[in-house]
Amino acid sequence: MSAQPPLTEPFEIGGVPISNRVLLAPLAGIGNWFVRLQARRHGAGLAVSEMVSSHAIHYGNERTMTELLRIHPDEHPTSIQLFGADPEVMRGAAAVAAEAGADLIDLNMGCPVKKVRKTGAGAELISDPDLAVAVAAAAVEGGGRPVTVKLRSGLRAGDRSGVDVAVRLVREAGVAAIAFHPRSAAVQHKGTPDYQLVRELTGLIDVPVIVSGGLDSAESARTAYRESGADAVMIARGSFGYPWIFEELTGRRTEAPDPEEIAAELLWVIDAAEEHLGAARASHYLRKFYPWYLARMGVPHRDAACFQQLEDLGEARERVRELGTARLAAA
Ligand SMILES: Cc1cc2nc3c(=O)[nH]c(=O)nc-3n(C[C@H](O)[C@H](O)[C@H](O)COP(=O)(O)O)c2cc1C
Repeated sequence: MSAQPPLTEPFEIGGVPISNRVLLAPLAGIGNWFVRLQARRHGAGLAVSEMVSSHAIHYGNERTMTELLRIHPDEHPTSIQLFGADPEVMRGAAAVAAEAGADLIDLNMGCPVKKVRKTGAGAELISDPDLAVAVAAAAVEGGGRPVTVKLRSGLRAGDRSGVDVAVRLVREAGVAAIAFHPRSAAVQHKGTPDYQLVRELTGLIDVPVIVSGGLDSAESARTAYRESGADAVMIARGSFGYPWIFEELTGRRTEAPDPEEIAAELLWVIDAAEEHLGAARASHYLRKFYPWYLARMGVPHRDAACFQQLEDLGEARERVRELGTARLAAA
């Protein structure tokens, strides 16, 4: 068995060069262009978009086209994740995503949410390998870009059919990498990931395998990388309010950011959200982001809670600045 390369070593997905082995996971409702750009700025080798409906693209849904498919010129390489279970719709959607600037197309075959599964998409595709292969093959043909698939180990505890589906996707549809989340769809995002199953998969296919699941700190990401024998790691919840995890994993820093640095990062997020969505929608959208950054600054929950009522972004900025300075003085 050859030695596993360091996470800082470049690799390729279907001929697309990736500068290191630390990736941002697809995150629904979160992984827009500026969150991906932020991850890249902090050192991620590749950032994958939040999942985008192939049907919404097919019907030309305006927000999908202008917001979800928006790619910043500085974030390349970019992977756009699509979901859907109709090969013809996927073929067209992959072409549109490629036209929008995607360097890679990722397909979601792991989403455990009922609303998605009942359409046959997400993790449901694991139960229909023939259709999964047809969807992936259509994306490969339609997009003309390397196609990756993110999937789970199976649908229920103990089910490992995700491994067999992954092998077929590579051999029969020409999928260029597999992101594997070794938890069943039934447990959603809870439970201990089975990294040995990822290791098994790496022995069955000759394309990169990316491990996802339970990578909530730099330390746990290193452990998952080692135990799984994967080619790369994918950071999901571990990046919430903490893009510095990419710096830690790529050897750019060892010490945690101070409250003032975290405040400056949150101010950048506020500015980007306002640019992307306009002030009114951004003030709602940011309610998800505030608690992550404020918790990382050590702000008590009761003080962070008032951010949920803020409508005025100017006031939000003022409070973030004050908290940054005050927490730094107290540190
Ligand atoms: C809020 C949230 C949104 C997610 N959205 C997506 C998604 O759009 N597509 C996808 O393939 N996985 C999605 N996932 C799964 C993550 O990419 C990742 O596989 C999962 O969180 C396990 O990694 P972790 O335990 O390190 O967080 C999502 C997870 C969370 C928590």
